[in-house]
Amino acid sequence: MTSSPEQEPQFHGIEVQKFADPRETAYAVASKIESLIRKRRDAGVGCVLGLATGSTPIPVYAELVRRHREDGLSFANVTTFNLDEYHPMDEANRHSYHAFMRRHLFDHVDIERSNTHLPSGSVSRQEVQEHCSEYESLIKESGGIDMQLLGIGRTGHIGFNEPGSTPESRTRLVELVEITRNDAADSFGGIDKVPKYAITMGISTILDAKEIVLMGIGQGKRDIIRRTLVSGPPSSDVPATFLRGHSATSFYLDKAAV
Ligand code: PGA
Repeated sequence: MTSSPEQEPQFHGIEVQKFADPRETAYAVASKIESLIRKRRDAGVGCVLGLATGSTPIPVYAELVRRHREDGLSFANVTTFNLDEYHPMDEANRHSYHAFMRRHLFDHVDIERSNTHLPSGSVSRQEVQEHCSEYESLIKESGGIDMQLLGIGRTGHIGFNEPGSTPESRTRLVELVEITRNDAADSFGGIDKVPKYAITMGISTILDAKEIVLMGIGQGKRDIIRRTLVSGPPSSDVPATFLRGHSATSFYLDKAAV
């Protein structure tokens, strides 16, 4: 059981919930996802989740897997769309986000594999644009994303929308910045092995979600979260600031990140 989070005032319309530690933060996010899945199942409809990769959501997925095993939480009515994938990247590669999602969630719950979607890292450059439009169409045909889970990069990126990304951006091929590639270098075994490009949902794609939950864990995210919540007007310099324009966004943060 988790203690109640500390409620902070709203920052530019963003609700902030602060938790004692990463475990409680993840537990609260898992509870939010579980109640959405159950509510939609009880209404006899599917639940469309936007999912994120990176170290931040790993404990959320672990908690959802535990609830599936121990509490009977079913993912049979769930469809998922991930934010992004490296390009080029084979989905069998252990560094791919496809592999990440299988490892941390999809292999351990009763989700229909055909209901799980990520951008493909293996389409050719010539095919990328068409692939991105198809990804957007699939999201729309599913009825749109009910809840989008986000992490935040030290650059202020959401998905791989690096500084310079506009609020109108849709799913597209992007070049990763040095800080982001550096942050991934350890897991790849050196920055030279980190892909230079990725396919990501755009800011506008993310803002179409009915509800958005951004998680921030640890002191390393404190500066960028402060900048996102309190500094100047929304700007492409810190893409996460565009979340301020969304009507149902909350930040779930641990104490170290605030
Ligand atoms: P992290 O990445 O969860 O590994 O910190 C977050 C992000 O880059 O969006």
